[in-house]
Amino acid sequence: MLFDTHAHLDEDAFSQDADEVIARAVASGVTTMLAVATTVESSRATISLAMRFPNVFASVGIHPNYAVQAQPGDWEAIEELASSSKVIAIGETGLDRYWDHTPFDVQLEYFRRQIELAGRCDFPFIVHCREAEPDVVAVLREMVGAGQLKGIMHSFCGSRATLDAALELGLHISFAGMLTFKKNIELRELAKSVPLDRLLVETDSPYLAPQPNRGKRNEPAFVRHTAECLAEVRGQTLDQLAAITTANARRLFRLSDVLG
Ligand code: NI
Repeated sequence: MLFDTHAHLDEDAFSQDADEVIARAVASGVTTMLAVATTVESSRATISLAMRFPNVFASVGIHPNYAVQAQPGDWEAIEELASSSKVIAIGETGLDRYWDHTPFDVQLEYFRRQIELAGRCDFPFIVHCREAEPDVVAVLREMVGAGQLKGIMHSFCGSRATLDAALELGLHISFAGMLTFKKNIELRELAKSVPLDRLLVETDSPYLAPQPNRGKRNEPAFVRHTAECLAEVRGQTLDQLAAITTANARRLFRLSDVLG
């Protein structure tokens, strides 16, 4: 029983066969998926997918690389969509100095807004971080206030310092296909040290499929390979690792409130 906490099921890559992709995931034990949005349009699409499938949930938000395209009214639309019944997270948000499509001050503005909205909704926010680790940590520290943050470092592939800071601030750490790539020895070393109750797995479909499907279109069913790798690294069985990460996700997203 696995939970894919990050899949872009609304993207063009799945426009022809989303139903089959979701059915394949369920058949291979991926009982729950979070369809993650990147724009207002995509937020509407993830919600309509989630409405069609009982085991698909939705996030709403504006990705840092798309914030540059945001129109007047888009932010208000995100705030409104956040109250749809199957929305359980905000994002993906974060910072990206690699593509740098969006002026950095605009990225910062949307990142802060989404953390704030997530807090207001009691949802986790989903952090995309590319070549911006110190900047992401600085924003998280600025936003943490008195308590802890409720968020996810998605497709984590950062440094020990970033991992430690994110954990200290209360975030969960989600591993994707890159964990399984042969060369990523240090990443597997870091994955060993994440507290059990903060671990999540995801695909980031349709991107970066795990071994042995590297190079193919990624899909939620493949989350098993990342979970297997994580289980092996941590000296657990796949069943143990799956049960723990799924329980973590359900608790983080408060799904027991929804699913019983
Ligand atoms: Ni993503």
